[in-house]
Amino acid sequence: MKTLNFSHNDKMPMIGLGTWKSKPGEVYDAVLTALKTGYRHIDCAPIYGNEAEVGNAIQEAIQQGVLKRSELWVTSKLWNDAHRKADVIPALKKTLSDLKLEYLDLFLIHWPVALSPGVMFPKGSDDFLSLDEVPLTETWQGMEAAVDEGLARHIGVSNFNLERVRHLVGNSRIKPEMNQVELHPFLPQEDLRKGCKELGVHLTAYSPLGSKDRSSAIKKDDEPLLLEHPAVKRVADKRDCTPGQVLISWALHRGTAVIPKSTNAGRIKENLESSGVELSVEDMQFIAQIGPEYRFVDGSFWAMEGSPYTMAGLWG
Ligand code: A2P
Repeated sequence: MKTLNFSHNDKMPMIGLGTWKSKPGEVYDAVLTALKTGYRHIDCAPIYGNEAEVGNAIQEAIQQGVLKRSELWVTSKLWNDAHRKADVIPALKKTLSDLKLEYLDLFLIHWPVALSPGVMFPKGSDDFLSLDEVPLTETWQGMEAAVDEGLARHIGVSNFNLERVRHLVGNSRIKPEMNQVELHPFLPQEDLRKGCKELGVHLTAYSPLGSKDRSSAIKKDDEPLLLEHPAVKRVADKRDCTPGQVLISWALHRGTAVIPKSTNAGRIKENLESSGVELSVEDMQFIAQIGPEYRFVDGSFWAMEGSPYTMAGLWG
C-alpha cells in the first residue's frame, strides 16, 4: 500500500475505510472485515454516531492478533460544537474513549463552522457561533494542545478552502498536515490540490464514489451518478476493473489519500485492491474532464436563514 509522509517519519496508508453513513449494527463487521482484509487506515468522526462500535472492532482485531495498534492509522474529527479552545481536549477524550484508543494518528477540525456547545445540527440562528466569536485560530490552539498532550500525533482540517488553509499555516505553531475534502472527477478542485501541495498540506478525498447512500435530507433527486458515468465505465472496461476501482485509483494517482465507505465485504476488498489498478496519463485526463462539476456535500445546511455562514464564504 502506498503511503503519505507525515512529520516524525509517520506514514499514512493512502486507502482508508470511510465510516460515514455506516450504520450501527453494520460498522463493526465492516471494520473487522476491513482490518482482516488488509486495511490499515480507518476514518472516523463522532458525528457519524458509530465510534464506539468502530472501537469495538479495532479492539477485537488487535486482540485476535490481526494487527498491532502501531500498525494502524486512525483519523477522527472535532465536531463543530467544541470549537472553543477549552472544549477541544474534552471532545477528543470522548472520541478516544469510544474508539478505545490512547491516541489518534490524525485529528481534524471537521468544518470551519462553530456551533453552540451541545448542538449537533443547527435548528436556528441561536445554534450558531460566528468565526468572530470563536476564530479558527483559537480552535487550532486546542488542536495543538492535543499534540502537546500526546493525544493526537498529527492535526489537520477538513472542508477548508485554500485561503483558510493558507491562513492557518501562517498562524500556527504546529502546522496542519491534512485537509480532508470532497474530491472526485465531478469536483477535482485542482487549484486547492496545487495550493495545498505548495503549502505542504496533504489532501484526503472524501465521497470519492459519489456518496450515493446519503440520507434524502442532504441529497438532491437529480444528482449526477459518478459510478455510472460512461467515461468511468469505459476506463473500467479498458483496465479490466470496476468503476469504483477506477475512481479510487484516480484519487491515488493524484497523490491524495482516499476513504471509500463500504459495509459490504466484497466491495471492501474490491476497493482495497484498487491500489493495483494502473491508469495512464490519458486515462487520468479523460476522467478529469468528464463533468458536470458537482459538489455532493455542498454545506448548504450551514447556510440557513439567520446563520453567519454562507456557501460563498465556505468554499471561496
Ligand atoms: P456499500 O456500503 O453497500 O458498499 P462514498 O465512499 O463516496 O461515500 O460512497 C459510498 C457508497 O458507495 C455506498 O453506497 C457504498 O455502498 C457504495 N460503494 C462502496 N464501494 C463501492 C464499489 N466498489 N462499487 C460500487 N459501489 C460502492
